[in-house]
Amino acid sequence: MAMAEEPRWTLITGASSGIGAELARVFAARGYALVLTARRHERLEALADEIRQAHGVPVEVMALDLGDREAPQDLRDMLQEQGIAIHTLVNNAGFGLRGYFASLPHEKQLAMIDLNITALASLCRLMLPGMIERRRGGILNVASTAAFQAGPYMAVYYATKAFVLSLSEALHDEAKPHGVTVTALCPGPTESEFSDTAGLKDSRLFKAGVMSSAEVARIGVEGYEAGQAIVIPGAKNRAGAVGAKFLPRFVSRRVAGLVQGMK
Ligand SMILES: NC(=O)c1ccc[n+]([C@@H]2O[C@H](COP(=O)([O-])OP(=O)(O)OC[C@H]3O[C@@H](n4cnc5c(N)ncnc54)[C@H](OP(=O)(O)O)[C@@H]3O)[C@@H](O)[C@H]2O)c1
Repeated sequence: MAMAEEPRWTLITGASSGIGAELARVFAARGYALVLTARRHERLEALADEIRQAHGVPVEVMALDLGDREAPQDLRDMLQEQGIAIHTLVNNAGFGLRGYFASLPHEKQLAMIDLNITALASLCRLMLPGMIERRRGGILNVASTAAFQAGPYMAVYYATKAFVLSLSEALHDEAKPHGVTVTALCPGPTESEFSDTAGLKDSRLFKAGVMSSAEVARIGVEGYEAGQAIVIPGAKNRAGAVGAKFLPRFVSRRVAGLVQGMK
């Protein structure tokens, strides 16, 4: 008799809204089991109920603040206690801040680095060895088109996303021979709570049009399942990334500064 397939447990950070919530819906529709995390517990529970009913997959909720240094290890301990081995890690939690580097509150800039960089790297480091050992699964890291050039007036955010892209590309090559995929998803402007949190709502960048979180998530999961290193959803965003590659750096950073400029 064939053994039942092990559930493909998928840990999604930042699942309480936007791209993360849609990634949860897309993975569940494809039969993955989910562990949802973010700070807002009630939102996660509501999403978990919706997904269990719609797709009949197991869904666990583990609410915590990934800005805390200990949080990734705590998460890992909770998973171990429940006997859950992570098949797919989705590092999606992140936020941006618009404004002058010299005047934005430094505490908030450091909190951004803690979440966008430190927590993401820690979760990769905690989960990747098990994936390599099992020769199964992988990591989907949410970077941004911000990763492809410097971004005046969002300097720290752009730098954090350059880190995410660079780390993911390197891990892609390190993990591939072991049967493990690492993918960087690089969305452009996308409808979610991000632009509110970042103070970007009135920027040229967001006024020029946004993609839906649902579409970004679908394209991201398809690219991950296809084993791609980098996924850029949307023709306009792909053109921008190509532009950033071939234009002189002073031009591409000036364009970035213009579209999100401080008027
Ligand atoms: N929207 C865009 O235009 C865009 C473009 C490119 C890349 N991205 C990236 O896409 C990812 C998802 O963003 P989004 O657009 O979906 O924005 P969003 O709607 O603001 O979602 C951000 C998610 O991160 C979680 N989060 C924030 N701080 C956290 C913390 N300290 N600990 C744990 N979770 C935390 C939030 O949940 P809680 O508040 O409940 O903790 C929320 O679930 C981010 O990495 C962002 O940089 C977004």
